[in-house]
Amino acid sequence: MEKKILIQKLWNLVNLAEDYYSTGFKSRHPEIKEAPVKQVENGEKGQSPGKRLESIKQEILTCKKCSLHYGRTNAVPGEGNLHADIFIVGNGPDEEEDATGRPFAGNAGNYLDKWLTAIQLDKGRHCFVSNIVRCRPPQNRDPGLEESRACFVYIDEQLAIIKPKVILCLGRIPGQILTGKLTTSVAKLRDQLFSCKGIPVIVTYHPVSVLQDQSLRKPVWEDLKRLKMILDKQTG
Ligand code: URA
Repeated sequence: MEKKILIQKLWNLVNLAEDYYSTGFKSRHPEIKEAPVKQVENGEKGQSPGKRLESIKQEILTCKKCSLHYGRTNAVPGEGNLHADIFIVGNGPDEEEDATGRPFAGNAGNYLDKWLTAIQLDKGRHCFVSNIVRCRPPQNRDPGLEESRACFVYIDEQLAIIKPKVILCLGRIPGQILTGKLTTSVAKLRDQLFSCKGIPVIVTYHPVSVLQDQSLRKPVWEDLKRLKMILDKQTG
């Protein structure tokens, strides 16, 4: 057999195995079966989840959906396990994230790692980490509503592929956007359990806010325990 055809056949087999695995993964999440799986703009029909996630990443890296792209060094597509149980949503890239293209690459990220370790979770293994906007807002200001809306398509697409068991929103902006409660404070949002596309949403304070105000440590710890309880319940 010609070498090129053989390589193509092997490649098809690899794709088949990936898709078989993802189907099994879906059947373990019957509660979110209905989540819409959108076609990625530059993706091809029938792509495996890993390839679709990679297509979204490439799309984000060259995104010009809003004016934030003018000021970026690197867009930050988000990263983590394709089969993550937890989908973490932050605000947007700061200086370190803009420089490295990686989410939560600085102090806030180190602190977040500690939170997850405290509930026996590992960021790389159990989570996918994303942000409301993928380009750094000037002077680290909060993302605006129009910027957040323009960028939400990426959260939508990543959620549809990863199908996490729970979404963890860090801070006011992610909390308001994911719950649709655009004028509610974190203090009120964290008191309730919301869902987004059938996936439970937990809202807590942003690590940066907790680093600045130690009195927020106790409520965050309560929220983390709630997150762990939801996960453990679903794992059985
Ligand atoms: N703060 C965020 O909200 N997101 C990051 O990626 C880094 C810091």
